[in-house]
Amino acid sequence: MEVESIIKLYTEQFGSTPEYLSRAPGRVNIIGEHIDYCGYGVLPIAIQNSITIVAGRNKTSELNIHNTEFHRYPAFSCKFSAASDISIDGVSWHNYLLCGIKGVLEHLPHTTEVTGVSMLVSGTIPPGAGLSSSSALVCCAALAVNATLKYGLSMQDLASTCAKSEHYIGTEGGGMDQAISLLATENKAMYIQFDPLRLEPVELPIGISFIVVNSCVESNKAVGNQFNTRVAECRVAAQLLAKLEGLEWREIRTLGQLQEILKLSLTEMISIVEARLHKEPFSREEILAILKTSEKDFIQMSLSAKTKDNISFSLYQRAKHVYSEASRVCRFKEVCKSSDVILLGALMTNSHNSCRYDYECSCKELDDICEISIKAGALGARLTGAGWGGCAVVMVKHEHAGEVMKQIRDQFFVGERTGKEEGMFVTVSSSGAIVLDLMNSHNLTSEEN
Ligand code: GLA
Repeated sequence: MEVESIIKLYTEQFGSTPEYLSRAPGRVNIIGEHIDYCGYGVLPIAIQNSITIVAGRNKTSELNIHNTEFHRYPAFSCKFSAASDISIDGVSWHNYLLCGIKGVLEHLPHTTEVTGVSMLVSGTIPPGAGLSSSSALVCCAALAVNATLKYGLSMQDLASTCAKSEHYIGTEGGGMDQAISLLATENKAMYIQFDPLRLEPVELPIGISFIVVNSCVESNKAVGNQFNTRVAECRVAAQLLAKLEGLEWREIRTLGQLQEILKLSLTEMISIVEARLHKEPFSREEILAILKTSEKDFIQMSLSAKTKDNISFSLYQRAKHVYSEASRVCRFKEVCKSSDVILLGALMTNSHNSCRYDYECSCKELDDICEISIKAGALGARLTGAGWGGCAVVMVKHEHAGEVMKQIRDQFFVGERTGKEEGMFVTVSSSGAIVLDLMNSHNLTSEEN
């Protein structure tokens, strides 16, 4: 929906004019999957599709959230002052906004401002497509409240805040999606490192395009337990390896932290995984015996509410993926300088295979898209985002984009997927979030920068 129409609708629905507009884009991760929460750098771009919110204070003390697609996304209201106390369970669309709002309110514990805020939300990121519509909602709501109530948090603060507060939805994600949505640079990929958050724009070689292809398999990481299971497996792998290396395992939370303490290269870490862990899944009993600890302690130190009953842990494969993927990201970033597009493509395809076989987060449809693309002349292809559905990202030379898209259309968008080709598009790297002061028609984002 056009901005003018969203503003008009806000005015009709809330009987006042909105004060601010915030916009936060979705993302496509070029390489570096499932390693942000292990402490490793990733390389996403922001896409054109985004979430827009127009917001303003109201004369009540209510938080009112409406969506332009009100049939699909019902309105929600609560006392604004209660927004940070709301326990967010379940994946209703408005819960993502509450995560963002709660994050901002918690960041400012002494705020006494008791006022109402109204928001109208509109979006162009397909939900469940692995393009991070959820984090864009979280970030956009945080931006809206931050601007409307003049809290003054920077984009950088908000990126870290939103990464943490999105956990209220019940998924222990890393910080990639929020950082790229809020801080992306147009025409660049972003190398993002965490703890502390650091961003470095990366020039992608000229002459290549990225095609995003929706597998038409819905992927919602907050539904089901696969995502949190992977997070737990990585944590347990790090702790088990720490114990086997003679370290205090309770002090270790991530595979990245373990590498730092051991002061070894990523290649050496892979050798340690191969030497110390067996390929068969570890049972809970075996882990307890190695860690020399009790059920209770293990649950407390290593698992979460959603994974406390897990009994089998594929530690070898998960750790191998993480260390090898972290090294592919570093390589990719380096190779971007020399523009060796064949090597970049190979790194992407290797990343997909690692996700497919070691991390087991792919699905047949994503594997099919990658295979069709490579056969049609793509440089590389991989799943993007959490996986288990959602989108693949395909790297092609400009001149091959048409042919690769044709082959995907002819071979993938057939049968029950006929007519769903709009789920395939060439993406450019867009800029990050913006905030506009609608009353004074100026861009607060550029002012901050
Ligand atoms: C989701 C999470 C991210 C990241 C990806 C996988 O999108 O929100 O933090 O872990 O999955 O790379």
